Amino acid sequence: DKKIIIAIDGHSSTGKSTVAKQLAKALGYIYVDTGAMYRAVSLYAMRNGYIDESHFDEEALEKSLPGIDLQFEINPKTGLAEVLLNDENIEQEIRTLRVSKHVSKIAAVSKVRKKLVEQQQKMGVEKGVVMDGRDIGTVVFPNAELKLFMTATAKDRAERRYIELKEKGENVTYEDVLKNVVNRDHIDSTRKDSPLKKAKDAIKIDNSNLTLDEQFKQILKLAKATI
Ligand code: C5P
Repeated sequence: DKKIIIAIDGHSSTGKSTVAKQLAKALGYIYVDTGAMYRAVSLYAMRNGYIDESHFDEEALEKSLPGIDLQFEINPKTGLAEVLLNDENIEQEIRTLRVSKHVSKIAAVSKVRKKLVEQQQKMGVEKGVVMDGRDIGTVVFPNAELKLFMTATAKDRAERRYIELKEKGENVTYEDVLKNVVNRDHIDSTRKDSPLKKAKDAIKIDNSNLTLDEQFKQILKLAKATI
């Protein structure tokens, strides 16, 4: 079998990472969560006071970029890669709504994107990779052998994410989560650098009415037909 690159893009909270993990496991591929990298940079910016509800010092963030080192480490319990921000495992913290509220502004900064995209492209050199994000099929790997674009209604997506955050013990309301999902999609699709959009050759998957199992079977079939 030849090894390929599978690019999974789409709107916020469409279950990209769930299906990407399933696929990587079934194919023996590496899974790369690029959203986690943007979230890590956001956490760094928040901790250093570069961004909060009322201000964003883009220049300070840009200047600090050389001091941000992102690596992945495998969690032996789950077998999944987690992001290290300057050697600190920040997996729990980057999944909070607090980080979700700032991440799209951070991800709109060209210098941030340039740094992360370069690192992502290196991780795909040997192929055998499933990568999910917003610009994987359009910018990071325009030649990916299989491209998927996932979407679902905002209501369905917010419901799923709300349940997930609640299960983790976060004190959030459904309205907050819905607002965040809609707001992130808006910023992500209207930014100048690498806006979220379906690559021409990407296959669109609307999973509003699909179970996880149905979706996985459908996508695994596409992957096997490509490999
Ligand atoms: O995938 P996830 O929801 O964790 O991504 C968080 C945010 O990171 C997105 O809303 C988007 O602003 C940004 N992102 C991006 N490009 C990627 C992956 C994520 O701009 N390839």
